[in-house]
Amino acid sequence: MSAPKPELAIDPDITRARMPPAALYRDPAWWKALCDGPLARGWHCLGVADGLEAVGAARPLVLLPGALDEPVVVVRGGDGELRLLANACTHRAHLVVEQAGCGRALRCSYHGRGFALDGRCTGAPGFEGVAGFPGAEDALARYALAEWRGLLFGSLAPEAPWREVIAPVEERAAPFLPARWRHDATLDQTFEFDGHFALYVENYLEGLHIPFIHPGLNARLDWKQYGYASFAHGTLQVGVAAAGEPTLPLPAGHLDTARGPVGALYFWLFPTTMVNLYPWGLSLNVIEPLGPARTRVRFLAFVERPELHDRGAGSGLVQVELEDERAVLQVMKGLAARAYRGGRYVPHAEQGVHAFHRMLARTL
Ligand code: FES
Ligand SMILES: [Fe+2]
Repeated sequence: MSAPKPELAIDPDITRARMPPAALYRDPAWWKALCDGPLARGWHCLGVADGLEAVGAARPLVLLPGALDEPVVVVRGGDGELRLLANACTHRAHLVVEQAGCGRALRCSYHGRGFALDGRCTGAPGFEGVAGFPGAEDALARYALAEWRGLLFGSLAPEAPWREVIAPVEERAAPFLPARWRHDATLDQTFEFDGHFALYVENYLEGLHIPFIHPGLNARLDWKQYGYASFAHGTLQVGVAAAGEPTLPLPAGHLDTARGPVGALYFWLFPTTMVNLYPWGLSLNVIEPLGPARTRVRFLAFVERPELHDRGAGSGLVQVELEDERAVLQVMKGLAARAYRGGRYVPHAEQGVHAFHRMLARTL
């Protein structure tokens, strides 16, 4: 008999609520539940759409290695549409697309089964006389794929459509978002640490810790004016620029949560995407949960105004990241304490953390 599925209950009233127990981050049964629920149902960044313009262009990838381990392939169909397909042959599960390329159809190299660019099975040698072959179930399964201003996002079983997930960003930032983000890979950074991805998310979702662990960032933001908002599938934190620091070109009064000139908009999209908008452009944090005690975070840089890259809240990001990771590692160690029961929330400053826990509870 399998163990009962872990259940997480978070009081909707933040003044009464208690945070999840340590088991969420440490128990293998909870890890599996997080993979099957929140991670399978959330949207994840699949990188940039550059290079997939031509009909037949295909890029295989593994969605969340170490967590979902899902082999998928992004393919541009003959109708011009980009699709996310299961990259496992419907015969005996050999990978269909083994490397990025471009062709008129997909063909499994193991026994030659063919697929159209939309995933339909078109035939296979030796299957003459097999009843009902090929049928709909011989097609490659299709998953959800969305393109947002040149970035690709995918989900195996989305809790909500992408347009609902990205809506808070579009509603607030559209005036200064480029039609297509331009990736500057020379500025990308990759980090890995021995901590649970949910701790990294929690840390990101509150600015309460800024004056304690980020002295440099604290000088570039007016911390007392820091603002928060929560949505159905994400959150926003508004960093108000300290005097003399660069700001985002937002029309006055455009943001109800802003209590001064905005130096940074920190959007988080459930569960693994952080859209950090700075005066210089976008720093996208892509979180890859590698296991219950290991996480990779990739910073992807999209620069619109290079002259501002080393100024304001969007500068010194590596230093801030290392300070955050250190805190996450210390929490990871503290969670081993048998006495820890899950703490209470600071109502004004930990509403994003509370919202995250409620989203986990909803999708577990
Ligand atoms: S596994 Fe693909 S043709 Fe057999
Ligand atoms: Fe931080």
